[in-house]
Amino acid sequence: MLSSTCYSTFSIQSLNPTCPFTLHKPQIHNISISQITRTRILTCIINNSTSSKRMASVAATNEVGVEDQNELKKGIAELYDDSSGIWEDIWGDHMHHGYYEPQSSVELSDHRAAQIRMIEQALSFASLSEDSAKKPTSIVDVGCGIGGSSRYLAKKYGSTAEGITLSPVQAQRAQALADAQGLGDKVSFQVADALNQPFPDGKFDLVWSMESGEHMPNKEKFVGELARVAAPGGTIILVTWCHRDLLPSEESLLPEEKELLNKICKAFYLPAWCSTADYVKLLQSNSLQVTNSTNYYPLDILFLAKLFSFPANRLWLIWQDIKAADWSENVAPFWPAVIKSALTWKGFTSVIRSGWKTIKAALAMPLMIEGYKKGLIKFAIITCQKPE
Ligand SMILES: C[S@@+](CC[C@H](N)C(=O)[O-])C[C@H]1O[C@@H](n2cnc3c(N)ncnc32)[C@H](O)[C@@H]1O
Repeated sequence: MLSSTCYSTFSIQSLNPTCPFTLHKPQIHNISISQITRTRILTCIINNSTSSKRMASVAATNEVGVEDQNELKKGIAELYDDSSGIWEDIWGDHMHHGYYEPQSSVELSDHRAAQIRMIEQALSFASLSEDSAKKPTSIVDVGCGIGGSSRYLAKKYGSTAEGITLSPVQAQRAQALADAQGLGDKVSFQVADALNQPFPDGKFDLVWSMESGEHMPNKEKFVGELARVAAPGGTIILVTWCHRDLLPSEESLLPEEKELLNKICKAFYLPAWCSTADYVKLLQSNSLQVTNSTNYYPLDILFLAKLFSFPANRLWLIWQDIKAADWSENVAPFWPAVIKSALTWKGFTSVIRSGWKTIKAALAMPLMIEGYKKGLIKFAIITCQKPE
């Protein structure tokens, strides 16, 4: 059974302050962490007034200057332009971790199946219904790579899918593969920024982001865009790299932990990392913002809330169904397998031919293993539903 975590209050701070793409020094905020691990869906309740104050703090710590953002985006686009071809050649069209049963013995041939399992596990964690009346009909794939998830999901649900990536090479290849598979009328790709998505509000009933969140220099804006493009009743599935949650006694990561993350940031074009708790908090706060801006609460709801003496935002958040889980153990065999494939003659020569950015990323792969082993890096899934 999958375990999920519900967070009631959180610490929020900039977690990799010396990262090359972060201009801000660490700012520590109100720290009060309470985590309850449960095995099923849990509802999350937070206090409205303190959460909006903390929200402002998240925004401040996540800011990355425009110049830094542009430099980062350029680096990401070039990294994937250069490396997507060799990845596809060796690993196929999914550029994400596989999902494995903990401690299972893993055959090399199992890795592609494990990547599909990752998609299925994510859908199942989000309780996405197999009931045909409730299947998603329109999907956005935020940070789509060469479109593996978009095509898989479009085929599975018979839905449309729109993918966005920063890499022109990826967008072109993703479309070519969709056309070749007869999906050209259902699936489309374009170069666009996840922080400024070219879609109207409420367009998609499944918002999918598989391992792109770690590249986003403004997590608040990222989460805000995911929430904005989700249709009422739609599901958001966010699978991403995080650093560990801080302990109640901690104000920041340890210096050696920051140092390790910095090295990974440089190689993979990542800005500051955040924790799973930070993402959950952002989703919760985002709901509150939506609530405020649309005058969501009708007067009778406010009256009822007052009558029964609980904060009105409980009514809203109970419907959010925010769930999170740590799948680090389930992805453990992945990086060793990638390193093994890079050490074959084909892998080695392809990496060298792809240029310096790909070489740098390949050299950083053992650092990911080190991060996981130290419990610093967490492979997180966070899902929620936008209220109807
Ligand atoms: C590791 S790949 C994951 C690809 C894909 N989700 C998959 O599972 O195969 C990361 C993707 O995130 C995209 N990305 C990173 N930052 C982005 C941004 N600001 N806007 C849109 N896409 C972004 C990259 O272009 C790349 O396609």
